[in-house]
Amino acid sequence: MKVYITTAIFTIVLLLGAIGYKHQFWQNGSLPIDQEQHGLNEQIVINFSHVVAEDTPKGQAAIKFAELLEQKTNGRIHVIIYPNGMLYNDNNELKALQNGDVQMIAPSISKMTKAIPTWQVLDLPYLFHTDEEVEKVLNGRIGEQLLNQLNHADIKGLAFWNNGFKQMISEKNRLVRTEDFKNLKVRAMPSSVLQAQFELLDATPVTTSFDELYSEIENHGIDAQENTISNIYSKGFYKVQNHITLSNHGLLGYAVLMNEDFWNSLPQDLQEDVEEAMAEATKWNFQIAKEMNQVDLEKLKKEPNVDLTSLSVAEQKNWEKKFKPLYTSYKDEVGSVFLKEIQSELNH
Ligand code: SIN
Repeated sequence: MKVYITTAIFTIVLLLGAIGYKHQFWQNGSLPIDQEQHGLNEQIVINFSHVVAEDTPKGQAAIKFAELLEQKTNGRIHVIIYPNGMLYNDNNELKALQNGDVQMIAPSISKMTKAIPTWQVLDLPYLFHTDEEVEKVLNGRIGEQLLNQLNHADIKGLAFWNNGFKQMISEKNRLVRTEDFKNLKVRAMPSSVLQAQFELLDATPVTTSFDELYSEIENHGIDAQENTISNIYSKGFYKVQNHITLSNHGLLGYAVLMNEDFWNSLPQDLQEDVEEAMAEATKWNFQIAKEMNQVDLEKLKKEPNVDLTSLSVAEQKNWEKKFKPLYTSYKDEVGSVFLKEIQSELNH
């Protein structure tokens, strides 16, 4: 009997021990802490929200930045990325940044032109002709001056990123001659230059946020839009708008922004790490933007229903002529300083 009771008690103790080990009852209910990562309590989290797919120049650059920063800070900063507008969309991401609900966003430059009117210069059609020109301006001395304009908005500007050149994409017909736009409803980002660009073509600009664009096309709320090949491919726009004109008429670039109070709260060594990681991610972004748009263009060429066409030199000249008044109204409204600087940098 004594042996029986001792064995039973021993078995129960063993059983409780095993259950306790499995559920980690001995660790005060908290997660195990990896001291090499300075402990989870000390870890700083950056929530980074953006509206495009991960498989795009911006999506990939955000991931690259997160990896680089975590490496450089030995895990002291952890970046959580929220792609595809899953947290905030075009309409509320800037407010969310300013309120400190997220620490980073990367809206298109066009979507920032209401807050920073001088940035309208970057929306002028055919201002840039190659990716190299875009990089020279955005990632150089002029880009730095343009980022400094954010001081008026209490936002820390970290960098400009690139996606590439916008193309026209439409549901009903090819957009090649300037007359082809007449009476079409064309989606434009909220930028007065872009709205005016379509008005000059006798089209009606419609502002739709990026996350609602696909359903708006399906519901025939818009007939056409301008976007880059990587956005057209990754969001599947070509499935609902199959006429693509390779017009390369405008830039889709991004401003990578951080909440200013959050930036100021970072110790100096971490600010330096953020700047270094951003510089590396930015250089990489310009490279992959070009590559991704080329790769996605090849994929689109293989899609049986996609109608791809390029502008001839004469057709492009017609577009440029039609858009000329935008340059004058930009100068009248905002001034010509940045336009002159860019044109002289590019020897135009
Ligand atoms: C983006 O690339 O961030 C979205 C661009 C758009 O709204 O068309």
